[in-house]
Amino acid sequence: MVGKFIGVGIGPGDPELITVKAVKTLKLVDAVAVPKTHADAPSMALSLIKHILEERMKPAEVLELVFPMTKDELEVKKLWAKNALVIAEKVERGKTIAFITLGDPLFYSTFIYLFQTIRQKYPHVALEIIPGVTSLTACAARAQIPLAEREEVVAIVPSDLDFKLIEETSGHADTLVFMKCAHRFKAIIPILRKAGFTENATVALVRRCGMPGEAVTVGSLTDAEGWVIPEDYFSMAIVKRSEFTINRR
Ligand SMILES: C[S@@+](CC[C@H](N)C(=O)[O-])C[C@H]1O[C@@H](n2cnc3c(N)ncnc32)[C@H](O)[C@@H]1O
Repeated sequence: MVGKFIGVGIGPGDPELITVKAVKTLKLVDAVAVPKTHADAPSMALSLIKHILEERMKPAEVLELVFPMTKDELEVKKLWAKNALVIAEKVERGKTIAFITLGDPLFYSTFIYLFQTIRQKYPHVALEIIPGVTSLTACAARAQIPLAEREEVVAIVPSDLDFKLIEETSGHADTLVFMKCAHRFKAIIPILRKAGFTENATVALVRRCGMPGEAVTVGSLTDAEGWVIPEDYFSMAIVKRSEFTINRR
């Protein structure tokens, strides 16, 4: 049997938004690799696919790979190298391994670093990527906000980006999507105003899309100034230049 390393997108959190191809793959692979921020942290990604693994005739090996959240580049590179070796050794022995990732594997995901490390250090390892429904499209659907039409420009912005860069980017976009947004979004509103977004521009704030505790709020930029926004990693803001009256839910 030929081994392979497969990045599998499992969608944004709603168990019904996992693709047929992802489910099929998860039922067939020898091992499922799960990213974790530390060894004893529960894995949300694993809990989302638990029912799929339970339906298997032969249990899959579960490989818990730790990727701590640190800004120490050297430490991070060492960990990618360590985890890449674990994967490469198994693939060399003919095993198929699915690395699960929330949303899509190539959209702000730990998978990217791992797959780049494997491609560099172990070029003989066969790779495949199964795309997933991203949080971007899932949040837009829940808020019923079009992401782009006609000539509109969309910018995706990590909200911890430098404010100056946020301002520059905002000046060129019709739709802005702020990832990792909750704790910083209020501070971003004045920047949007400077970039020409009017008080009636549309804002959708989506927390825990498709997960327990989901919350969707849509309003104008002025409304958003008054919102109490709890800190939540699983949150996203979509801002559109077009008026809230057009995009009202
Ligand atoms: C590291 S990125 C992962 C993106 C993921 N790979 C994807 O394709 O959607 C994490 C950010 O995605 C957004 N996100 C992911 N899942 C979400 C959800 N269910 N609801 C709202 N935002 C979500 C949040 O902004 C979060 O901080």
